[in-house]
Amino acid sequence: MILASFFLLSIGAHFTPCSEPFLNVSQRKNFTYCKKLTTLEAEFAWRINNEQQIEILFGTRLHTGFGWLAWGVNPDEMPQMVGTRAMIGIWNSDGSTFITTYNITSDTKMGCMLKPEKMDEKVQNEVGFHNMSMENINELDYFAIQARVILPPAAYNISKLNHVWQIGDEAEGTEPKMHAKTLQNVDSTETINLWVRDEAHHVGKHENHLRTVHGILNIVGWGTLLPFGVIIARYFKYPLENFHDWRIPLHVSCQIIGYILGTSGWILGLVLGNLSKFYIFKIHRLYSIFIFTFTTLQMLALRLKPGEDDEYRKFWNMYHHFLGYALLAVISINIFHGINILKPNDTWRQAYIGILISLGAIVTVLEIYTWTKFKRSPKPTASAQAGISATGLEVPQPRP
Ligand code: HEM
Ligand code: HEM
Ligand code: HEM
Ligand SMILES: *[C@@H]1O[C@H](CO)[C@@H](O)[C@H](O)[C@H]1NC(C)=O
Ligand SMILES: *[C@@H]1O[C@H](CO)[C@@H](O)[C@H](O)[C@H]1NC(C)=O
Ligand SMILES: *[C@@H]1O[C@H](CO)[C@@H](O)[C@H](O)[C@H]1NC(C)=O
Ligand SMILES: *[C@@H]1O[C@H](CO)[C@@H](O)[C@H](O)[C@H]1NC(C)=O
Ligand SMILES: *[C@@H]1O[C@H](CO)[C@@H](O)[C@H](O)[C@H]1NC(C)=O
Repeated sequence: MILASFFLLSIGAHFTPCSEPFLNVSQRKNFTYCKKLTTLEAEFAWRINNEQQIEILFGTRLHTGFGWLAWGVNPDEMPQMVGTRAMIGIWNSDGSTFITTYNITSDTKMGCMLKPEKMDEKVQNEVGFHNMSMENINELDYFAIQARVILPPAAYNISKLNHVWQIGDEAEGTEPKMHAKTLQNVDSTETINLWVRDEAHHVGKHENHLRTVHGILNIVGWGTLLPFGVIIARYFKYPLENFHDWRIPLHVSCQIIGYILGTSGWILGLVLGNLSKFYIFKIHRLYSIFIFTFTTLQMLALRLKPGEDDEYRKFWNMYHHFLGYALLAVISINIFHGINILKPNDTWRQAYIGILISLGAIVTVLEIYTWTKFKRSPKPTASAQAGISATGLEVPQPRP
């Protein structure tokens, strides 16, 4: 929580100006405001003709060279996909292009075909899109759509306008097909005050920092300290038997700290999941519930552990070992999953892979050392005496 508040304090007002070439294009077209949107590398320029009439230009890259670009407004309380009145420019792979308006409903979200719908501000409270045009901005490798938008004052207020943007790779004629579902694609909404260039309430404005904290807590807690604690439990018995007395206290304290950090990260994840009301990352969530449940079970060892010479101790050991290693596997899968959701630059993945490689190197060295020493000396070692090898499996006992 200290980490979290530190990150929250470090958030300044966040406004990203347009890229130079896009700004240039927008100024050539007489747009007066321009800003980079928070996701999909999109840029947005606008001009206010009056309270009810604006001109907009929306542009971004389409990496495959075709697909669709959508920009729209939503009259509901919160910006979201369902309810958005959008204009969509479509570049088909056969070279044909279309730009029309669409009414996006819950049926669309459920997978029904998205058909063009005429929008007319003369119908009560409907949006009007006029003079729509689409183009490729060559100097930027951008695709862009542009229009004059008429917003009826009963339903829209440009000082708190909910706008929504999206891109997709696939289309068929005038029908755009489902977009990707990464965080970038679902976080593409905000409430903006068009009068003030840098005033926008993006859903993820604070969330983005909390996501960073969430990732760090989880990687450090579940992803680093728990495996490190397991290494202690495994190798302080042998070959690092000099530290044998420290084995259990260190293992336990490492796991307790890891558990506390990891659990804070998990709770933060749940909070983040609840903050973003319109989407959910099911698999990541399921894995995380699994991880929390079973690490909690592992932690019960603090109180519920049969004594050293209890006949059930053998079974407790087996179960504690098995669950411990299974958890490490699931945790690392879920961390990669989380990094994939966040889809940031590659540093997260590289950092985590770095951690895995370091842990792996420690394990490899100790493991090789264990086996060469084990092979060379027929003398029973501390662990062989107990009938347990470094892998935790029972081994044949050398004759005395
Ligand atoms: C072409 C047909 C479309 C289909 C089948 C579709 C489907 C979906 C689905 C299934 C989700 C939920 C993803 C999740 O929960 O993981 C979603 C989210 C979203 N979509 Fe679409 N979508 C389409 C077009 C659009 C368009 C044109 C826009 C923008 C104008 C858009 C904007 C969004 C946004 C902002 C979200 C985030 C969640 C939300 O606000 O509800 N989508 N879409
Ligand atoms: C989430 C937390 C935990 C995980 C993932 C975990 C995992 C493990 C693993 C994998 C081992 C076997 C290492 C080997 O190969 O020798 C082990 C050993 C052990 N753990 Fe934990 N552990 C956790 C928490 C705890 C706690 C809270 C205690 C508290 C008493 C504890 C007590 C022990 C003991 C006594 C052993 C040694 C068993 C033996 O070989 O005699 N562990 N742990
Ligand atoms: C094992 C470790 C992890 C656990 C237990 C965990 C847990 C969670 C949980 C419970 C959620 C909420 C899911 C929902 O309700 O939609 C979540 C969301 C998320 N997690 Fe993780 N997570 C882990 C690792 C990571 C990592 C390493 C990253 C990134 C570097 C990450 C990034 C995210 C993101 C971006 C979200 C979406 C937040 C949102 O909905 O706005 N997670 N995580
Ligand atoms: C803007 O575009 C004009 C002509 O299109 C060009 O002469 C000028 O150098 C550009 N400025 C920047 C900053 O790119
Ligand atoms: C931009 O404004 C200037 C001056 O008002 C005008 O001459 C020009 O035609 C306008 N350009 C566009 C693209 O509307
Ligand atoms: C768009 O859909 C909403 C319901 O989601 C409906 O109330 C509205 O009249 C529709 N608008 C148009 C132009 O079809
Ligand atoms: C918009 O389109 C109408 C009709 O095609 C045209 O008369 C008008 O000049 C256009 N306005 C702008 C700003 O391009
Ligand atoms: C729009 O909202 C602002 C601030 O909330 C308010 O001052 C203004 O009167 C509203 N405009 C209209 C046309 O409702």
